[in-house]
Amino acid sequence: MLLELKSVQKRFGGVTALRDGSLSVRAGEVHLLMGENGAGKSTLMKIVAGMQGLDSGEMLLRGQPVRFANPKEAAAAGIAMVHQESLLAPHLTVGENIFLGREDLAPFGVIRRSAIMERAARLIESHGFPLRADWRVEKLSPAGRQLVEICRAIASNASLLIFDEPTSSLSESETREVFQIVRTLKQQGAGVIYITHRLEELRTVGDHVTILRDGATVHSCPLADLSRSQLIQHMVGRDLGALYQREPIPPGKPLLELRHLQRAKILHDLSLTIRAGEIVGLAGLMGAGRTELCRAIFGIDPLDSGLILVDNQPLPLHSPRDAVSAGIALIPEDRQRTGLATQLPVGWNLTLSSLSAHSRFGILNSSLLAATESRFIDRLRIKTAGPTQKSVRLSGGNQQKIVIAKWVAQGARVFLFDEPTRGIDVGAKTEVFEVMDSLARDGAAILMVSSELPELIQIADRILVMRQGRIAGELPRHTTQEEIMALAAFEQEELSL
Ligand SMILES: Nc1ncnc2c1ncn2[C@@H]1O[C@H](COP(=O)(O)OP(=O)(O)OP(=O)(O)O)[C@@H](O)[C@H]1O
Ligand SMILES: [Mg+2]
Repeated sequence: MLLELKSVQKRFGGVTALRDGSLSVRAGEVHLLMGENGAGKSTLMKIVAGMQGLDSGEMLLRGQPVRFANPKEAAAAGIAMVHQESLLAPHLTVGENIFLGREDLAPFGVIRRSAIMERAARLIESHGFPLRADWRVEKLSPAGRQLVEICRAIASNASLLIFDEPTSSLSESETREVFQIVRTLKQQGAGVIYITHRLEELRTVGDHVTILRDGATVHSCPLADLSRSQLIQHMVGRDLGALYQREPIPPGKPLLELRHLQRAKILHDLSLTIRAGEIVGLAGLMGAGRTELCRAIFGIDPLDSGLILVDNQPLPLHSPRDAVSAGIALIPEDRQRTGLATQLPVGWNLTLSSLSAHSRFGILNSSLLAATESRFIDRLRIKTAGPTQKSVRLSGGNQQKIVIAKWVAQGARVFLFDEPTRGIDVGAKTEVFEVMDSLARDGAAILMVSSELPELIQIADRILVMRQGRIAGELPRHTTQEEIMALAAFEQEELSL
């Protein structure tokens, strides 16, 4: 037995994050830790990694009781963690971040920078990650930062590795590589704790599963003993019923029209129309240009040529401000960095972008504000101590929901959702879909970018597939994953032949 946690409790002021967290992990085992947003998964793991103390309960490492005062002590005991939110030093390079704080590499107090960069470069290359050791971390995408965190964990030679949603922003090939890394670690006899909301990926890596609900361990068993629906039932504590099915409505007039959008090397002669009431899915491989298209529509990136019309009016799109006043909302992929003021209270984040809708003659109507805040906290089941709690204190998934709510509250007509369900638990995904559906019923036009093909098939009225900056084709509702992939990947396979 490598790690045992017994009845761990942890409170933050008035919030009980953990009531009864228990978990046993053996060496050479991949242990899945599952549960809804806010269940306490990250908190439990931060205690193991020495980032947080526990109020009561026991922690045993190889049978010995331990308490870590800081992450250094946990690292010295052979524990490494890949964090859900990047904790890297943004202004340092990739290589420096991978070996940051590793005094063991410098027996005489001097670490040779060139040696570190060389080792980092070798490590990156051996896993085929699209990174370079001398890049600065602040320039990286969420996926890039996640890969650096992973390299950092591997480089530490730990005997217990914790992965907190490591694949949530990775491409398929990067995800496969992470699974390979986990398998290798297991073969080498390390213990691995793996947190994810992606039910599909579990069976490929996991041996054992522990499920947390509302801060308490509710079930723990070999993964093979649980069906998918039993797993969900334990997580949410209620029957979710059948898969959410959207009933499409007859589309109205064209709300968003893109004509021949062109941006060198990124978008090529891209045209599409979305009508009021429609939810249009946008699929494609990593790098196909889906996020770039959203950014261009929202006025963040300039276009070389082409026309964007909202409700038949051509847009002078020079900045996101123009897009917002034309009634366009972008729920961005990188929500932590661009979507959320993490130091502000939850309530402020919810209503920040819609202050004018909540004021008259320039004076804020605070009771209207409060009503909007609590409506969204209820509607999306955001787990918070209340609207005054700082957003950074919310669990990862609940932060995602705030960003979605913030834009929905603003009352736009055209919504660009970039990976809306990333990091959101199974139960809450349905709620996000319901919000999208009700927006469409109220006459909005929705473009939904997603790499989760089953979800696109489930929710979209039709699916456009992008490939290398172009629309490669359109598929009807209830198409298959195979058909989407065939369109998304066709040309690349052709090239490699
Ligand atoms: N530093 C903190 N201060 C106050 N509350 C906190 C703090 N850290 C976590 N919490 C609260 O503890 C609860 C558990 O959060 P935790 O991050 O462990 O959830 P999680 O299971 O990892 O969820 P997710 O799937 O969304 O990442 C949440 O209600 C969260 O708001
Ligand atoms: Mg978490």
